[in-house]
Amino acid sequence: MERLVICSALLNTLDMHTTEPAYNPLDDIDHILVDEITIKNRLKELGRELNEAYQGRDVAVIAIINGAIIFVADLIRELSIPLQLDCIRVSSYRDDTKPMQEPEVIDKIRLELKGRHVLIIDDILDSGNTLSRVSQMFQAMEPASLKTCVLLDKKTKRSVDFEADFVGFRIPDEFVVGYGLDFAERYRQLPCIGVLRPELQNPPEWS
Ligand code: IMP
Ligand code: MG
Repeated sequence: MERLVICSALLNTLDMHTTEPAYNPLDDIDHILVDEITIKNRLKELGRELNEAYQGRDVAVIAIINGAIIFVADLIRELSIPLQLDCIRVSSYRDDTKPMQEPEVIDKIRLELKGRHVLIIDDILDSGNTLSRVSQMFQAMEPASLKTCVLLDKKTKRSVDFEADFVGFRIPDEFVVGYGLDFAERYRQLPCIGVLRPELQNPPEWS
């Protein structure tokens, strides 16, 4: 047993010396906009706001995935109201940092929304196209109420008249990644929210 422990300790040491430096998505970040602790603290506040707003109600929480995955996972654990969770997948209409076309629903929800208090959750409100489209769609299902909650709001970029009911942080017009937000499906695992280094936003191999 003792020999086994020594062997694995030795292997670990060898590993440290022979492998490439560990991948760290933070290396690709130019600057951090919202750090991990600030996100955690704001989520606690947001949780309190939602618990108060929905006191005595049973809520249908609909996350727009993939972007809202991390946010919704942490946020619902701050909620002390009865809720059901479902997800909707909306086409990613950008492969780079620019919007391309109208968002399209690719994967529908399973929950029945008629007569329910519906809270839609997304990672970021940018042009407003995604949330206004999803909201319109859900409104047609005759919910008792329909509200939206976003982690980030890039207010200067709106192309449709749409505001979220609950907002985590208002941020400047910069392309951000982390805490669920991606660039080409990468960087979602970052615990903070940051701006990619400019040379990585449109890598030459993409042109
Ligand atoms: P909107 O439809 O323009 O409001 O954009 C909403 C969607 O675009 C979000 O759910 C994100 O997936 C994506 N998006 C917008 N801005 C950013 C950004 O700065 N970083 C990563 N994704 C973004
Ligand atoms: Mg998204």
